[in-house]
Amino acid sequence: MDRRTPRDFAARLDIALPIIQAPMAGFQDSALAIAAASAGALGSLPGASLAPPQLRTHVQAMRDAGARAVNVNFFCHAPPEPDAAREAAWREALRPFFEEYGVDPALIAGGPGRLPFGEEAAALVEELRPEVVSFHFGLPAPALLERVRRSGAQVWSSATTLEEARWLEARGVDAVIAQGVEAGGHRGVFLGAETSTQMGTFALLPQVAAAVRCPVIATGGIADAAGVAAALRLGASAVQVGTAFLRTPEALTSAIHRAALASPAAAVTALTNLFTGRPARGIVNRLMRELGPLSDAPPAFPLAVNALAPLRAAAEKAGSGDFSPLWSGQNASGARDAPAAEIVRLLGAGLD
Ligand SMILES: Cc1cc2nc3c(=O)[nH]c(=O)nc-3n(C[C@H](O)[C@H](O)[C@H](O)COP(=O)(O)O)c2cc1C
Repeated sequence: MDRRTPRDFAARLDIALPIIQAPMAGFQDSALAIAAASAGALGSLPGASLAPPQLRTHVQAMRDAGARAVNVNFFCHAPPEPDAAREAAWREALRPFFEEYGVDPALIAGGPGRLPFGEEAAALVEELRPEVVSFHFGLPAPALLERVRRSGAQVWSSATTLEEARWLEARGVDAVIAQGVEAGGHRGVFLGAETSTQMGTFALLPQVAAAVRCPVIATGGIADAAGVAAALRLGASAVQVGTAFLRTPEALTSAIHRAALASPAAAVTALTNLFTGRPARGIVNRLMRELGPLSDAPPAFPLAVNALAPLRAAAEKAGSGDFSPLWSGQNASGARDAPAAEIVRLLGAGLD
């Protein structure tokens, strides 16, 4: 068995297709994962937005629905040091919008936001034994990683550069997820923060495939069967698709976000750090236009979320996505109002 061929890669996971429904924190739970799995893909759950008790429920729901394999995904960012000066600068940058919407900055709730993989999550992995644990933003500390490995899970993590891919392979991951710059949502970048030098999927993928020996999963901009076939031809063992699932009835995407994805606006995306403090790709909206998509103003990930929350809520109440993260990859052409199983079938057409 060659663990890098798409057939063997899928066979090891007991899934029919070398297609992974991307974990999407805040946009899905087991409903999407079950629907994708029912059509032969690997269903994923976002541990960054589902707290351990919820994860337990949703992994169980996937098992009850007959999913053969489960991927649970976690973030591994370093928790931010609160920085009062940066927070004040961020609020100052947002002041005109607070005034426009009548938001009192004194009432902004604090809070840590997205939590990185830690003790509680490791215990949950040991308890639930997902077949795959995938990480974004690097890997957890060695002792935690060892617990994941000993649970029997395959360990995957995202690489946005060749250097990150080699770094991950040197730490023994079972697969590298090569994330091109066209991908929707957060970039998995963890070595260096320079976004302007990041490669597109079809430049990054063959170079990563040549640089590492483990299987490589291609992600970013893959939206149809031809894209899947092209990625496999370029050395991918599987593909991971996010944006194409955002308009499915099983996703938790808001009506405003769905409308943006279905509109001509979806053709214009940019990397922005405004919404969370880390670069992520989304449809260009008013906040990105007026502050510039990449800025020194927001505090470290994920603290930028807090000051934006009341603005986002007020704007959304008025039917506007001006202050919402409208995450999307550069190729939203695969996103349609169709069940997730149908999206998987379209992506997998032509694969036997
Ligand atoms: C709405 C959204 C949320 C995402 N959340 C996560 C996440 O929680 N963890 C993760 O590893 N990747 C996340 N991603 C990135 C995906 O794993 C994947 O790299 C990306 O969707 C691929 O590009 P595509 O959107 O063009 O298919 C997210 C992507 C989107 C669109």
